[in-house]
Amino acid sequence: MDLMEKIYALAKRRGFIYPGSEIYGGFGGFWDYGPLGVELKNNIKKEWWKSMVYDRNDVVGIDAAIIMNPKVWEASGHVEAFTDPLVECKECHYRFRADKVAEKCPNCGGLLTTPKRFNLLTEVYVGTTEEGKKKAYLRGEITQGVFVNFKNVVDSMRVEIPFGIAQIGKAFRNEITAGNFTFRSREFEQMELEYFIEPDEDVAEKTFCYWKEARINWYASLGLRKESLRFREHEEKERAHYAKKALDIEYKAPFGWSEFEGIHHRGDYDLKAHKITYKDKNGKEYIPWVIETSGGVDRSALFFLIDAYTEKNDRIVLRLHHRLAPYKMAVFPLLANREELVRQARKVYDILRRKFFVAWDERGNIGKRYYAQDEIGTPWCVTVDFQTLKDETITVRERDSTDQERVSIDKLLDYFQDGLEK
Ligand code: GAP
Repeated sequence: MDLMEKIYALAKRRGFIYPGSEIYGGFGGFWDYGPLGVELKNNIKKEWWKSMVYDRNDVVGIDAAIIMNPKVWEASGHVEAFTDPLVECKECHYRFRADKVAEKCPNCGGLLTTPKRFNLLTEVYVGTTEEGKKKAYLRGEITQGVFVNFKNVVDSMRVEIPFGIAQIGKAFRNEITAGNFTFRSREFEQMELEYFIEPDEDVAEKTFCYWKEARINWYASLGLRKESLRFREHEEKERAHYAKKALDIEYKAPFGWSEFEGIHHRGDYDLKAHKITYKDKNGKEYIPWVIETSGGVDRSALFFLIDAYTEKNDRIVLRLHHRLAPYKMAVFPLLANREELVRQARKVYDILRRKFFVAWDERGNIGKRYYAQDEIGTPWCVTVDFQTLKDETITVRERDSTDQERVSIDKLLDYFQDGLEK
């Protein structure tokens, strides 16, 4: 099995990610997150929101609607220009992105048509009667919801340029070819910051540099290995229709270096398109420029999983950063058939559950329980044993070093709180 097959198998077996609509044969490009996957994604989003909103004085958050007036997408240029080049095989009629294939069909070797532009927006119909139904779009990027609310935020929050608006939410793209597990999906989640600045190239350059460093460092601070990360600047012909400058943060995935966050200098493209201006406190009116950081929650989750995956002899250890790990700790009674141990372990479990998401396991022997927790990335295992009954201490075993230490039950909450803040 290659690494991607192993990740795919682990994700399914241990409740991280399942194929969407699986009992009906799946549905290309759609994935469901299981009980541990949703925790991983929520933890990524929580960390992102903390660093982008709570830890700053110059960023506020919003949550805009997924479906907007279709005029938004006409004005933003997406109806016209949000396209990929598509080719179709003249024999088997499979369709491919023209920039990803040579002139022969990868499926049957047939000849391909000349490329045509294929729009990635997903259409939906809104309304109650057949005649009254209106065509709209599922948002192709979450970004436009920020721009159309720019004035609302300025008027309601007393923010002044420079400031940012952060948002996390689902986006949809009718990708020509979905693939590489969740990497290219048709429904996915983005975490974005639109940072508004005065229209000035020096300010734009400084802001762009600041955010590209801040964002790559954020991923590294949550455990992605620095040697697996790099920047790649887009050539002019690659850039999206809105971008004056674009740079990707890429991860060295098993399928090659792959983008999972884009830093874009959008200039005044969007606010101008929506005819929105800003007046500063001296009454000077102008169209602000935007520096954007646009990360994918699903791609990050996938890369955090890949990067954390390690094998030690016959054991799998998912070395997820403790703040991203689904369960923070697992509690075991040493023996499941000794009532006094189970009772005491339940007490410890209840104490920890007040603050953390905690697993409980009493199946099999202690070694198997450690392995099962290592495989899903649980940073600490807490065992209640006979010593506990004598002196109210428990054993804490740390996942990566497998070091064990005795901690008294009344110090446990502080012990883990400190561990999680590191
Ligand atoms: N607002 C700018 C924007 O949407 P993008 O580079 O098109 O920029 C940003 O997308 C991020 O969204 C990507 O770096 C990626 O993480 C995620 N993303 C884009 N398309 C995706 C897809 N089909 N499947 C999963 N994630 C995707």
